[in-house]
Amino acid sequence: MTRFGKEGFDGDFFELVLEHPDPQSPAWRNWKPGQFVMVRPTAWEHNPLWGRPFSIYRADEDGLSVFFQIVGRGTERLAKLEPGDEVTVWGPLGNTFAVREDAPTLILAGGIGLAPFAEYVRRHPHPENLKVVFGHRPPVECYPLAKMAERVSCQSCRETCPADLDDFIALLGRVIPDYCRDGLVLACGPMPFLKTVQRIVAEHGGKAQLSLENRMACGVGACLGCVCDHKEEGPVSVCARGPVFWSDEITF
Ligand SMILES: Cc1cc2nc3c(=O)[nH]c(=O)nc-3n(C[C@H](O)[C@H](O)[C@H](O)COP(=O)(O)OP(=O)(O)OC[C@H]3O[C@@H](n4cnc5c(N)ncnc54)[C@H](O)[C@@H]3O)c2cc1C
Ligand code: FES
Repeated sequence: MTRFGKEGFDGDFFELVLEHPDPQSPAWRNWKPGQFVMVRPTAWEHNPLWGRPFSIYRADEDGLSVFFQIVGRGTERLAKLEPGDEVTVWGPLGNTFAVREDAPTLILAGGIGLAPFAEYVRRHPHPENLKVVFGHRPPVECYPLAKMAERVSCQSCRETCPADLDDFIALLGRVIPDYCRDGLVLACGPMPFLKTVQRIVAEHGGKAQLSLENRMACGVGACLGCVCDHKEEGPVSVCARGPVFWSDEITF
């Protein structure tokens, strides 16, 4: 059964609110930001065959939700779900972002990569240590940034032309070094954005975690559809070994 809402978001952005699979199970009681779920409405039958991975946006006794953007046929069909439609959810899956309570922590999000940080920000015991820098193309109102800005310092940069992208990369180049001595950098977003973060952090000798959003099929390490290159372990499944990696562990 699902409840379904898109309140507060524009365009192709939706919050899918689901009845909680099992709020009392230890895995769900202890879930942490960075983890994800595989979502598959039963109405999909065999097409598409595989569920789709989404970061857990919220999960508590009231429900489980993911925040998603329509990009293809799976997300298009998710957006059309009606209250009462049945959805299968596998999770919580994957590992989590580090929390360094007393360290200045920079959260870098690109587009829908903002989703896993909503709960990270809500739960952090020292929000004064957090700063969010958010790059996006659709208007900022499409994303849940305003809610995060009630708790932590947030800066958003919209890309409307190629020069905006250069400005955003320049901003990353200015802000990341401040967190490279004693702080922590966390990033989630498209691959080119993660590569840029990885490069700047490496140049300044910092510590960063990157959450990868590789395409996934099984979500549990069985199909090898989501591998990335781990420097020590070779090819590893992002779903089972990640999706969060230390930036110096992986090569793109
Ligand atoms: C761990 C993880 C967490 C994620 N969290 C979120 C989230 O919170 N919210 C959200 O909206 N999306 C998230 N994604 C991406 C989401 O899974 C894809 O957008 C979704 O699977 C696309 O399905 P589709 O059937 O609509 O698109 P398809 O029809 O399969 O593909 C349509 C287009 O989307 C592109 N695409 C497909 N999968 C991805 C992907 N993983 N990353 C980038 N582009 C993709 C394809 O290349 C293609 O251009 C996450 C992915 C991972 C791996
Ligand atoms: S999605 Fe199948 S191994 Fe990761």
